[in-house]
Amino acid sequence: MAAVISLGGSFIFDKKKDTSLLFNELKKINEKFLVITGGGPIARDYINFAREFNLTEKDLHTVGIKCTHINAWVMSKTFKTDYTDEDPRKIKINKKITLTGGFLPGWTTDTCAAYAAVSTRSKIIFNMSKEFGVYDKDPRKFDNVKLLKEISFDKLYTLTKGKRVPGMNFIFDPLAAKICKKNGIEVIVTSDIEDIKRYLENKKINGTVIKDH
Ligand code: UTP
Repeated sequence: MAAVISLGGSFIFDKKKDTSLLFNELKKINEKFLVITGGGPIARDYINFAREFNLTEKDLHTVGIKCTHINAWVMSKTFKTDYTDEDPRKIKINKKITLTGGFLPGWTTDTCAAYAAVSTRSKIIFNMSKEFGVYDKDPRKFDNVKLLKEISFDKLYTLTKGKRVPGMNFIFDPLAAKICKKNGIEVIVTSDIEDIKRYLENKKINGTVIKDH
């Protein structure tokens, strides 16, 4: 058993101090963690750059995957954790904290987190985001948005429509949400690192819980 963290690439780049605090916090919690790092701005920049060289869509996804692994490897060196590039569907956790990145072209690191939660029999994914949680409308497009405390997977699908293109950006990937729904895995979307401890101690969290009602 482990708890899975989908650590958005944007979180790492936008919140460097919080990223350090996050790893320090994880070391103090009596639980094993598998942390899957996203690509963030370097993935999107590199995909745009590589697109100009006419790479195929599959190769552009692979560019994204490689960026997620650069982030995972750098974080593992910085915070002295284990690192792997194993298939998340077969992953086994031995160490206190293991870092990894993406795996298959067309997935996202949220998809990897969902498969890794299944293979490690984790019932929870913490999706660390630069957003406070899930809103009733896209905060990039609307001003008057409301933060939701709880949302069902079915409702999430209606909020996360969009093409599966290289560099795609969802608050939580609907493909990952499908895997979570099928396997009874809850997802917390939050920017507050204290929410991990709060959730594990059955306390009220600041972010959004995605689960079936
Ligand atoms: P992610 O999409 O998973 O990073 O990977 P991210 O978490 O969004 O970064 P932020 O935090 O939201 O900014 C970046 C891209 O890499 C490819 C996809 O094209 C994805 O959009 N990717 C990633 C894959 O093709 N397969 C994977 O398993 C992971």
